[in-house]
Amino acid sequence: MLSYEKLLTDNKAWAQNQVTEDPGFFKRLAAQQAPEFLWIGCSDSRVPADKITGTEPGQIFVHRNIANMVVNTDLNLLSVLQYAVEVLKVKHVIVCGHYGCGGIRAAMNQQYYGGIINHWLKNIKDIYRFHRDEVDALPTEDERVDRLTELNVKEQIFNLAKTSIIQSAWKHEQRPQLHGWVYGLQDGIIKPVYEMDAGSHIDPIYEYDNL
Ligand code: CO
Repeated sequence: MLSYEKLLTDNKAWAQNQVTEDPGFFKRLAAQQAPEFLWIGCSDSRVPADKITGTEPGQIFVHRNIANMVVNTDLNLLSVLQYAVEVLKVKHVIVCGHYGCGGIRAAMNQQYYGGIINHWLKNIKDIYRFHRDEVDALPTEDERVDRLTELNVKEQIFNLAKTSIIQSAWKHEQRPQLHGWVYGLQDGIIKPVYEMDAGSHIDPIYEYDNL
């Protein structure tokens, strides 16, 4: 069997199993989704949002990109964010990085990876520059990558708080809460590293006063 054919075979077995366990499963989910969480994670294949959180289809709305970035010119991310916050009315937005992230590691050296990817990594290089003294004081490369992974997640929480989408929801609906997490590839455990409640303040230059 070809590798991709196994995906289709396993899919049939999974669908059958779902129906056996819960006959109304697909009917219910096909009618609507009402997830409580938006997950912004890394594209890394080892960090599947639903598996590592033990959640089922319908529970998490997901956006993934290299190194779980919230870039204010990224129409894809912003569309997902707006839909999740304004239509699905999620209560929590989670940015989840992971230790040993190849995107973070790639941003910390001077190698050219070709074309588009370097533009993306530049967003991470900017964060590295802000925190250079702290990160470079760590003795090993792995520790430096892991610390920048934590700092990057925190910075992406700030980037969320800078959007009019989040500020408007905070002002009018006192949600969502923002969570910065880092997943450990070594042990499978998620470590919370930063949190912002609805109504938190950031540097006033980013706060709109007429939303
Ligand atoms: Co990664």
